Order: sequence, then structure tokens, then C-alpha cells
Amino acid sequence: MDLFEYQAKELFAEYGVPVPKDKVASTAEEAREITTAFAAEGIPQVVVKAQVKTGGRGKAGGVKLADGPVDAYEKAERIIGMDIKGHTVHRVLIAEATDIKSEYYLSFLLDRANRTFLSICSVDGGMEIEELAHSNPDAIARVPINPLTGVDHATALEIVRAGRIPAEAEEGAALVAERLWAMFTDEDATLAEVNPLVLTPDGRVLALDGKVTLDDNASFRQEHGRFADVESTDPLEAKAKEKHLNYVKLDGEVGIIGNGAGLVMSTLDVVAYAGESFGGVKAANFLDIGGGASAAVMADSLEIVLSDPSVKSVLVNVFGGITSCDAVANGIVSAVKLLGERGESVAKPIVVRLDGNKAAEGRQILVDAAIPAVEQADTMDGAAKRAAELAAKGA
Ligand SMILES: Nc1ncnc2c1ncn2[C@@H]1O[C@H](COP(=O)(O)OP(=O)(O)OP(=O)(O)O)[C@@H](O)[C@H]1O
Ligand SMILES: [Mg+2]
Repeated sequence: MDLFEYQAKELFAEYGVPVPKDKVASTAEEAREITTAFAAEGIPQVVVKAQVKTGGRGKAGGVKLADGPVDAYEKAERIIGMDIKGHTVHRVLIAEATDIKSEYYLSFLLDRANRTFLSICSVDGGMEIEELAHSNPDAIARVPINPLTGVDHATALEIVRAGRIPAEAEEGAALVAERLWAMFTDEDATLAEVNPLVLTPDGRVLALDGKVTLDDNASFRQEHGRFADVESTDPLEAKAKEKHLNYVKLDGEVGIIGNGAGLVMSTLDVVAYAGESFGGVKAANFLDIGGGASAAVMADSLEIVLSDPSVKSVLVNVFGGITSCDAVANGIVSAVKLLGERGESVAKPIVVRLDGNKAAEGRQILVDAAIPAVEQADTMDGAAKRAAELAAKGA
């Protein structure tokens, strides 16, 4: 899970990484109130910052300096509702404007290729860091971190010196590195990035921006529910998650249900290919029902997929292995019955392709059940073609 800047900075503050005083606002009115309160505390200038989970906000016009409450109101009004790389701005962070002497870069991340952690540090931080990575990669230090010993003060200094951060900022930056590492490990993050890390004219070092990615696989031992991004989660994905289904919403018209992530991925491709002959029909979702596909799981899956208004046809693509095709076929039959009992009649066409273990038995079960919405196909290509054709007709 990626965090918004304001959430990342909440964590930074918890771990003692210095950040400017800030508060999040959802309306221009709130932005003005916060700025008024800041002014009363002796903070005359603020920065109004778009809260979206993408980079390059500054360059897109989503980070603006404001002189007092009226200006903050106007800047917030312009930024809220803006679209930055496909992300709508719902909130802005009102942050104390900081005097900047220099901008540095510092991050920790999971280095999958080398099966370790990595710190990245550079004296040349700020909005041009991506360009710098291409034009002058040597200006960016990469220091591997031993996961057993972590980052103590000596390692932190080593990182900061490798990044050529000047002596006047060395201690402050090393302290940030130590505390950022503590946050990175304690919170099970896979990325903790500060860009820019700044040195102020009076010698303080603080984090002006923060990007944090938390490892969802560790959520069971963390309390990260408070960071959940409810408003931008797709409602179907949220419903699928409640039912423990492995579902991802896509933007096509053919609902997909399959067993095994690899098979489902290739089904998406085959449908996209077949769909080219039918006006560019594509898969509406990814849904892997996994190994033991019980009738209940099949019912939940069909329910989710059929409730998607953009779905015009459904393709069930199952290769029987440990879960045999007769079990899957029984699952489909009971699922249709179950949905009927729940008052959700199955009207959209469902194309089923069964192959592998007990395919013949499975197919016979479906023939005997004679469900009007269900038809069968022998091959994956044939099934994809038929599902695409039906989707194009139904659209
Ligand atoms: N609180 C602040 N006070 C003064 N200047 C700031 C403050 N926050 C940001 N800035 C300035 O704005 C620039 C861009 O801000 P920031 O790094 O937060 O956004 P960004 O880098 O454009 O966004 P992203 O990291 O998503 O690409 C910073 O490099 C810094 O110069
Ligand atoms: Mg930044």
C-alpha cells in the first residue's frame, strides 16, 4: 500500500524524523482556517500541496507557496479537483514554508534483485532527481544495508557521506537516516523516501516530502488500517476483498473467472486478442479462484463479476488439477442456484471451458444441468472468441 505524503509524514513524526508543521485540508475553506491558525502561531507562509499517490506534483502545478490565509484559499481552490497523471486531488497538505539552503535525497528500499535492503543518498535532491539518475548516475550513492545489523549511527554516517552531503548537514542527515530506518523496519515498509531532505539556513535538516510504501503481506502484524484509501478503492474490489477473492477490476467487457494466476493472466491476453475481431472487446477483470474452488467461492465469484455493469459476458476458464473439473462444474451449477435463491438471476451469458482432470465428467454435469445462460467451449481460444463475440453483441 502506498501512502499519501501526509500519512508518510505522520509516520516520520512518530519516529522522530523532523518535518515542517502541517495539516491536511479537504476544502479551500479548511485550507484558509488552517493557514489562519498557523499565522497566529507565527507561521506567515505555507506551502499548499496536492495529496495524490503519484510523483511530479510540483511540476504539474500541485505544489504552491501561499502568503497567508487568502492566498492559501485561492491556491487550494485551484489545486483541489486538479488531475495529476490520472489522479484526482481530493486533499491538500498545508505545510509550514521552510527556508531552504540545499535539497538532498535519501531513501531506503527493498532491493529484490539483490535480496537485501538498499539506501540511496544524494547531495543533489529535489524535483530533478529522476533526470539525474539518467544523466549522472554516479552522483547517486547506493549503499546496501545488512538486514541483520541495520542502520546504526556509523552506518548512517557512511550513507550520508557516500551521498556527498556536506559536513554542515552530516549529523542532521545521519540522524534522519537512523530514524527513517527504524520506521522502515518497524512498520514493514518496502520504500521510505525523502525528497527533498533539506538543510535550512539555520542548520536544521528536515524532510519536506515523504513517500512510503507498506508491505501488505505484513498487515496482519501492523495497525495500518487507518491508512486505507477508501474513496479511491474500486467498490467491486472492496467487495471482493471482503469475500477473500483475488480480484482486480479492469476496464473491458468480458468477466473472467479462472483457476491459477498464470492461467487467468493468459486468459486476459487471449480475450484481448480474440476481442480485436469484435471491436476491441477486453477482459473486465482478473479473478483467480485458486485451488479448491468450492461452490461458495464460485457463487461469490460469479456474483461479483455479474454485478459489474460493464460485464456483458463471462468466461470461466478452468484447468482441472487437484481441483477436478467435475467439482468445478458442480460449483457452477450450485452457484447459479445459489444466486437464484439470493434473488440475482443469471441473465448474462457464461461461456465455460473445462479441461484437465475429469474434464469429460465436468462437461457432462453442465450439459445435464442445462442452464440457459451457460454454454461450453472446447478450447481456450474458442471460449475466448465466443465470450468476446457475446460481449460485443450484448454491448
Ligand atoms: N514545506 C515546504 N517549504 C518550502 N518549500 C517546499 C516545501 N515543501 C515542498 N517545497 C518545495 O517544493 C518542491 C516540490 O515539493 P515536493 O517534493 O513535496 O513535491 P514533488 O517532488 O513535486 O512531488 P513528488 O515527490 O510527488 O514528485 C520541493 O523540492 C521544495 O523545493
Ligand atoms: Mg518530492
